[in-house]
Amino acid sequence: MNRLAVDGFNEFDGQSVLITGGSGSFGRRFVETLLRRAKPRRVIVFSRDEFKQYEMQQQFGAKGDSRLRFFIGDVRDCERLELAMRDVDVCIHAAALKHVPAAEYNPMECIHTNVYGAENVVRAALRTGVRRVVALSTDKAANPINLYGASKLASDKIFIAANNLAGGRDVRFSVVRYGNVAGSRGSVVPLFQRLVAEGAERLPITDERMTRFWITLQQGVDFVASCVALMQGGEIFVPKIPSLRVVDLARAIAPRLPQELVGIRPGEKLHEVMVTEDDSRQTVELPDRYVIEPAFAFWTHEPYERLGARPVPDGFRYASDTNTDWLEGERLARLLAGAA
Ligand SMILES: NC(=O)c1ccc[n+]([C@@H]2O[C@H](COP(=O)([O-])OP(=O)(O)OC[C@H]3O[C@@H](n4cnc5c(N)ncnc54)[C@H](OP(=O)(O)O)[C@@H]3O)[C@@H](O)[C@H]2O)c1
Repeated sequence: MNRLAVDGFNEFDGQSVLITGGSGSFGRRFVETLLRRAKPRRVIVFSRDEFKQYEMQQQFGAKGDSRLRFFIGDVRDCERLELAMRDVDVCIHAAALKHVPAAEYNPMECIHTNVYGAENVVRAALRTGVRRVVALSTDKAANPINLYGASKLASDKIFIAANNLAGGRDVRFSVVRYGNVAGSRGSVVPLFQRLVAEGAERLPITDERMTRFWITLQQGVDFVASCVALMQGGEIFVPKIPSLRVVDLARAIAPRLPQELVGIRPGEKLHEVMVTEDDSRQTVELPDRYVIEPAFAFWTHEPYERLGARPVPDGFRYASDTNTDWLEGERLARLLAGAA
């Protein structure tokens, strides 16, 4: 990814910050970076499972950081969210059910957390006057073919439309959309690494042609923080990140292991897209990101024009197979060494 134009962590000094899903892969790294790089007044981790929170408390030292709070709660419970959001300035919404097959098998569970949960975050933020809300989305929400992607698309729409409900108050909602996170729970990297450690004789490959966008956890965290600094309310921010071929990934993890084609799974795409042709009509480009602007009557292009943003060409599409930036060879090996 090109160097970020903005260090968003300056934005958090003196602020009270709540992270839904704060005990997940993204949340833990976000909280660790926030406490190290900024001087927030308070950092609240909001999630359901006490054990994950306990483990996180251990990770942050037995004595703990007095700014850090652990709030047990479910995004399905609006009242609980409202209690947690009192006196909060910034909310990062990372809580989600994100396992594609689990969402297909348990559709209403996925909808309750990802869609009604989004509605609850919006309601609670509006009621308590949280100034900035950034919701994490995924490339699977662009032209979705599985319920996880569709639920995140619905969530994106809920956050964007929420800007129409803010009235005269300085309460803004935006979305960050990115692709696979190297090394996150359930991703293909830990799967391949586990198979290698268990002495597998071959690595399963769904399709030789398959490509994915790829971002490190730290890049994702830094990108989200920079969006808090930039957001006007209503944008979908998309980072410029490299693509990789799944076969190259398998070869980089286990160069001598044969690969076995197992076929694409239901609900999986061969390639992912982050800016569709239809989105492109409302998309502007900055050195490190695309910004899909909302279709609000009151939207003004001025803040992004001031940053030098220019519209993308007609018919533009940002997809993992036509990307111009590829993770291969040494660069891929370096990424794998740092993915944790
Ligand atoms: N990982 C990726 O490759 C990737 C790529 C693109 C976008 N994203 C998005 O990034 C966000 C964070 O992903 P992640 O990788 O950090 O996921 P993760 O490791 O699975 O963490 C999910 C977090 O959400 C919490 N959570 C789940 N259901 C909840 C509920 N109903 N109420 C409150 N908290 C709940 C979980 O804790 P409890 O179970 O204890 O509640 C956990 O803290 C998600 O929105 C995901 O869609 C991820």
